[in-house]
Amino acid sequence: PKKILLFCDPGIDDSIAIMFALINPEIEIVGIVASYGNVSKEQATANAAYLLELAGKPDIPVIPGAFMPIQKKMITYYPEIHGEDGIGPIQLPVKDYIKVYPFDTIRLLIEAYGNELNIVDTGRSTSLATAFILYPQQMKLVNGFYLMGGSFFAPGNVTPLAEANFHGDPTSTNFVLKHAHNITITPLNTTNYAYLTDEVVDLFSKHKSNPFAFMLKPIFEYYFKAYKKLSPGIIGAPIHDLVTVMTVCKPNIAEYIYYDAQVIEGIEAKGLSYIDLRPLGQPGQTRIAIKLNYDIFIKELKDCMLKMI
Ligand code: BDR
Ligand code: CA
Repeated sequence: PKKILLFCDPGIDDSIAIMFALINPEIEIVGIVASYGNVSKEQATANAAYLLELAGKPDIPVIPGAFMPIQKKMITYYPEIHGEDGIGPIQLPVKDYIKVYPFDTIRLLIEAYGNELNIVDTGRSTSLATAFILYPQQMKLVNGFYLMGGSFFAPGNVTPLAEANFHGDPTSTNFVLKHAHNITITPLNTTNYAYLTDEVVDLFSKHKSNPFAFMLKPIFEYYFKAYKKLSPGIIGAPIHDLVTVMTVCKPNIAEYIYYDAQVIEGIEAKGLSYIDLRPLGQPGQTRIAIKLNYDIFIKELKDCMLKMI
């Protein structure tokens, strides 16, 4: 299986991506770095630990990451989309203790898995940028980096221009884009089209040996309602982060262009992602998913979610 160290901020779509990865025999999650974003760092950490427990994999290390961006102390969480605690209406069992691992575990994991390791980031870029600052030599060993973020020549979601992850800490995003190698970005251009509908959720919820089956309906009911408010005509809702995780094993769920991407850090267009499309602009090394192959995406998801863990 493909080994993944996941940086995330669960969050409904992060949670679905985690569930998918935990059920999928083609993926092995070796650690989860949980940071601020959709919810606080503490909540993201608790959510990641809860999902691992449900999957019967409590030994996978959960590593608390950043609790704020480097640019400004201003953080906005998104309970109206992801729920008060981040997994829709789901309430976590009360626990007085969650086992977590220190940040340096990231270094140990990279040293252990070397070029077999893929890093996926479905949250703000702060923690991943920090890993580059702390472990520059180790980061060179990683096979590749998969980032959910940006929107190229298309509308944003958190502002008219910007997508939430690249908007959250654009300085860190640029730092990652500058220092990482073998980068794949799955921006809104693809993830906005990765929608699930009631019909698909019904199918998954009936599969009782899926350890997450009991929570899927309430989660999606909540998520669909939130998205209906944002875009009245929408059917279902997009599961952004799932696309990014899926790309590691099934790159053919999308079509790509190769350019070097950057993000605006200044206030007015903060988080706007762009590439140089001028005739003399140089194509680059970053693989940017520009179109989703929906049929392949949904088939892959169904095949996986209907499997037993
Ligand atoms: C991204 O922002 C987050 O709120 C979602 O979890 C996803 O990673 C979409 O813009
Ligand atoms: Ca996310």
